[in-house]
Amino acid sequence: MIFSRPAVGNDRTTPAFCGSVFVLCCFRYGEKTAYYGQGIKRAEDKKMSRNAEEILRELQLEGLRVETLDEVTSTNELLLMRGEMGDPEGLILTADLQTAGRGRSGRSFYSPEDAGIYTSILLRPHLTMQQIEKLTPLAAVAVCETLEEISGCPLLIKWVNDVFLSGRKICGILAQASKTFSDGIPDYVVMGIGINLFPPKGGLPHEIENIAGSLWSKPEQVQRFSAEPGIREKIVGRMWKRFYEMYREPDDASYVEAYRSRMMMLGKEIIAYGGADGTERAARLVGLTDDYALMLKYEGEDKPVAVRTGEIRIRESL
Ligand code: BTN
Repeated sequence: MIFSRPAVGNDRTTPAFCGSVFVLCCFRYGEKTAYYGQGIKRAEDKKMSRNAEEILRELQLEGLRVETLDEVTSTNELLLMRGEMGDPEGLILTADLQTAGRGRSGRSFYSPEDAGIYTSILLRPHLTMQQIEKLTPLAAVAVCETLEEISGCPLLIKWVNDVFLSGRKICGILAQASKTFSDGIPDYVVMGIGINLFPPKGGLPHEIENIAGSLWSKPEQVQRFSAEPGIREKIVGRMWKRFYEMYREPDDASYVEAYRSRMMMLGKEIIAYGGADGTERAARLVGLTDDYALMLKYEGEDKPVAVRTGEIRIRESL
């Protein structure tokens, strides 16, 4: 196989926790804004902090708790620390802005203020490894269902976990697991979701200007939805509620169908790449297995094979 397994396992963190945990514990309050830990700002009067309760109202699920911050390095990074410190499952962290947002495969995730939603949840799964590997695609379905319901826009999923609107990526998902395992299962998992709601005021960085989009990009949409009270809280609350329901029943076949029905490139000629040996291979994407592996029919081969890691892109020359 030319790929190695993705999602949770691929993005495992390497926490240099001892120092960070100490710093995180010693938080102190400032005047308007309280700071705790490195690169973390807690607002006492800004929009997200006042609205943790609104998110909770949408959640209506026992065991979920919400913390909101103005500015963080990365919501995933902070929840990994909280996981290490022993926080229980169900803590949701949401920030207005990330200064070091993390993406898959060591990439960064551009996370400017007022443009998006940056949020993560801490999980302590009592699941098999096969079920844990379903969590990333389940999160993609939860994102699509929530954003479609709220915006009316039809969304697509680029395997395994990018959400697209009109050919542009509007959401990325990053699952990271603890370094420590019990009985072969990570002690905790952090699932992070970044959604581009609006075009950033200063424009997109050059590297992503032809790839990234936003849920609402037309001027009239920006004007309407950026002024709509509670819209971010509604999205965050409903999305995590939906995800948490799926997390409790990760083998439910209806979720696979929900994923399949939104899958990009199904039936198309593609290039598979990004595997452990760095090769690129031409193939046709013929399906998706019930555990969210791609069924690829490689050029020159008769039988489709299940592929669980790497990435795919459309074959442009055709
Ligand atoms: C990707 O597209 O490569 C994944 C991007 C994941 C971004 C989200 S934003 C909230 C959470 N915190 C992070 O640092 N990353 C994830």
